[in-house]
Amino acid sequence: MTHARPHRIQVVAHRGASDEAPEHTLAAYRKAIEDGADALECDVRLTADGHLVCVHDRRVNRTSNGRGAVSALELADLAALDFGSWKNREAREAWRGRDEEPDWEFRPEDRENTSVLTLERLLELVSDAGRRVELAIETKHPTRWAGQVEERLLVLLKRFGLDAPASAAESPVRIMSFSARSLHRVRAVAPTLPTVYLVQFVSPRLRDGRLPAGVRIAGPSVRIVRNHPGYVERLKRAGHQVHVWTVNEPEDVDLCVELGIDAIITNRPRAVLRQLGR
Ligand code: G3P
Ligand code: CA
Repeated sequence: MTHARPHRIQVVAHRGASDEAPEHTLAAYRKAIEDGADALECDVRLTADGHLVCVHDRRVNRTSNGRGAVSALELADLAALDFGSWKNREAREAWRGRDEEPDWEFRPEDRENTSVLTLERLLELVSDAGRRVELAIETKHPTRWAGQVEERLLVLLKRFGLDAPASAAESPVRIMSFSARSLHRVRAVAPTLPTVYLVQFVSPRLRDGRLPAGVRIAGPSVRIVRNHPGYVERLKRAGHQVHVWTVNEPEDVDLCVELGIDAIITNRPRAVLRQLGR
């Protein structure tokens, strides 16, 4: 008798282990690798001088001590900023009004841990991990640059030998986006690189589980999964993988297990792995 292999959910560290360390910093990604995450998620944006950096927001105001749009700043400007201290500010805010001091403080061991992270440095970190760690790269606001984000991304992946996997299943890298056009640009140049279409609203066009042409992985929000489990079933019936973001609560992890989700994208990789018994 043959036994089906048990379904192994991939645990993806969203912006690194971003619950415990400042998002998109080496500190957060090193922690995620140490915690045993299967994959790392990152957002990429283009600087004024054409470097891909891992920053979520359009502006650097929330996550650094600087101001301004990433697209208007050069890499050297970003490198002068501190992308770590805001995390302690956030913790102090959460503690405000209580009699005690926050029980948590983030202390980077060295400056590199909290400076702006280039995608190139993140690729190096993953290459040196000593085990297979996958990378889910999200292109942010790609329309603004009319193809330049994807172009730079593919040049960089090529340099690391990651742009032309033998098959999507073997690829340690996948590209995600809310923009079907961005994914299309990637596939036009790198047809075997897996792409993930991120879904925030299930529009009538998507309701039956259809994805943009050539895309095999859907990335619905956890809110969609909670409110429309039937949508997940339709995606799976259509033969697609389902990667859900951002799953931080234990009851949502349970729901993902129940629905046979393929990847859980979370700020808390250690807690999710523990809940999954790994
Ligand atoms: O992993 C997908 C998820 O990160 C999309 O939302 O805003 O966190 O980039 P956001
Ligand atoms: Ca993202």
